[in-house]
Amino acid sequence: MEGDNGETVGRPAPDGRLGPDEPANQAARTARGGAVSRKNVLRAAVAAGPAAVLLGTVPALARDQSAQDGPLTPTPSCDDGDDPTPPQTEGPYFTPGSPERDSLLEPGSPGTRLTVSGYVFGLTCEPLAEVLLDFWQADPRGAYDNVGYGYRGHQYTDGGGAFRLTTHVPGLYPGRTRHIHVKVQAPGQPVLTTQLYFPGEPRNGTDAIFDPALLMDVRDADGGQEGSFDFVLEV
Ligand SMILES: [Fe+2]
Repeated sequence: MEGDNGETVGRPAPDGRLGPDEPANQAARTARGGAVSRKNVLRAAVAAGPAAVLLGTVPALARDQSAQDGPLTPTPSCDDGDDPTPPQTEGPYFTPGSPERDSLLEPGSPGTRLTVSGYVFGLTCEPLAEVLLDFWQADPRGAYDNVGYGYRGHQYTDGGGAFRLTTHVPGLYPGRTRHIHVKVQAPGQPVLTTQLYFPGEPRNGTDAIFDPALLMDVRDADGGQEGSFDFVLEV
């Protein structure tokens, strides 16, 4: 079982940026409140521009909406962004030095395909480019690869602050609800270590680490699932 006091590995992030044990990161782990808000919707709409939203060219703009809802209404302004993404425990299974890749799929590996897309914003709603996102998760059977880099990989946001991960839906393992781990770091800034969750999971109600502020919007698509989540960094 992965507890909330898992060991933190003091080696550097994949590109040599601040490691998870840096004091700045410890400070960033200070517990905060913060509920899911519609700001994610607003930020994405602003980042993409109304035309992009209307044309459906923005990846997975499902924020705060169910799959049954209609298209988002473009929002003309962004607010002050006072709900930074809350930190969570790293857990015991982080491995530094993951390969740079935006797909964690490997040939022949079974599982339900999942894409996770979104943006990384600063507190003033500006999308942040070149932000490191280092993902790791259990495989579809609920096992972590603690020898190699299976279901581990890092990528960087593009010039518009967007990221997109292709993977499989992680399996369940004892003691936890379904989740994906991630470290997020803007250049020269502290590391945010957190986790993403899936709506409608029975164990969300019993997992003490679960935080509804970290729920992705997830919908079925093309035989798999599409998830979306926007990060807000204290930058
Ligand atoms: Fe985990």
